[in-house]
Amino acid sequence: MRETLANYISDRQEAFNTEIVIQIEALNIPDRLKQSMLYSIEAGGKRLRPILMMASVEAYGGSYQDVLPIAVALEMVHTYSLIHDDLPAMDDDNYRRGQPTNHKKFDEATAILAGDGLLTYSFELITNQTNITDKQKVFLVNQLAKAGGPRGMVAGQILDMQAEKKNVDLEKLEEIHTAKTGQLIKYAIVSGAFMKNVSKEQMAALNLFAYYLGLIFQVQDDILDVTGDPSLLGKPVGSDESNDKSTYPKLLGLNGAIAQKEFYVEQAKNSLKEAGVKETILEQLTDYLSDRKY
Ligand code: IPE
Ligand code: IPE
Ligand code: MG
Ligand code: MG
Ligand code: MG
Repeated sequence: MRETLANYISDRQEAFNTEIVIQIEALNIPDRLKQSMLYSIEAGGKRLRPILMMASVEAYGGSYQDVLPIAVALEMVHTYSLIHDDLPAMDDDNYRRGQPTNHKKFDEATAILAGDGLLTYSFELITNQTNITDKQKVFLVNQLAKAGGPRGMVAGQILDMQAEKKNVDLEKLEEIHTAKTGQLIKYAIVSGAFMKNVSKEQMAALNLFAYYLGLIFQVQDDILDVTGDPSLLGKPVGSDESNDKSTYPKLLGLNGAIAQKEFYVEQAKNSLKEAGVKETILEQLTDYLSDRKY
């Protein structure tokens, strides 16, 4: 029987949640730090990046267990980015994943350190693996550092801040969104495929798919910040407007943002075909990310 997408997601989420908690519980670290790191991890989250990584390796005939630790590392980097994104010096938000933000539950210094701990441990975790070669580890660490670092997510965050109270054009907005969100999503897709034998041409197409998927994801995040239900989202809406952020709805209006997202979906699906993985869970996840309500 064909697995439904909902079953696929809940099954992979469960496997992933078990693994990530084991990894943090096993750490011999100061208790308050561990509690703070665990708090944001266990608060939930959709685990979209891990699921994309698993779907990517599976699309090329691998098994999701092959990427579990790498997916844990990626989710740690993502969760750190959220903890810091919510800080008073940044977006100054009070709710995340349906709970008070880390700095509200603990304090700012602890939240900063919990983020630092998740970020740096992610790299150690990858290098601790015994079932992948040193060459694979170098690639996976290098690409994660690149995606999360000053040419990736960190760049996107500062560009996002600098674009506050400004009117930027579509090209600039794509640059910001690709960096702040797209790079980590790209890492999920590319590192999943990297574990299998994927041709150069397929990898190039997959990179393009991941590029559009990152944009789809962040456009929908922007749309939900306007139209979403905070109790479903687990975070407040209207945060972008109160910070006067540059977003798709601000630039194109709500309908324009939706039309732009549909264009990206079409492009993403074309790239999937080129990558040789058209009718897979990856295609279903593209629509799922585009239409998600949380
Ligand atoms: C939110 O990411 C932050 C952005 C990059 C827009 P998610 O919507 O994936 O958040 P969680 O992980 O499910 O909480
Ligand atoms: C932040 O984007 C993405 C990160 C790199 C954390 P947003 O600021 O739009 O994310 P939300 O809406 O707070 O989740
Ligand atoms: Mg932000
Ligand atoms: Mg934010
Ligand atoms: Mg947002």
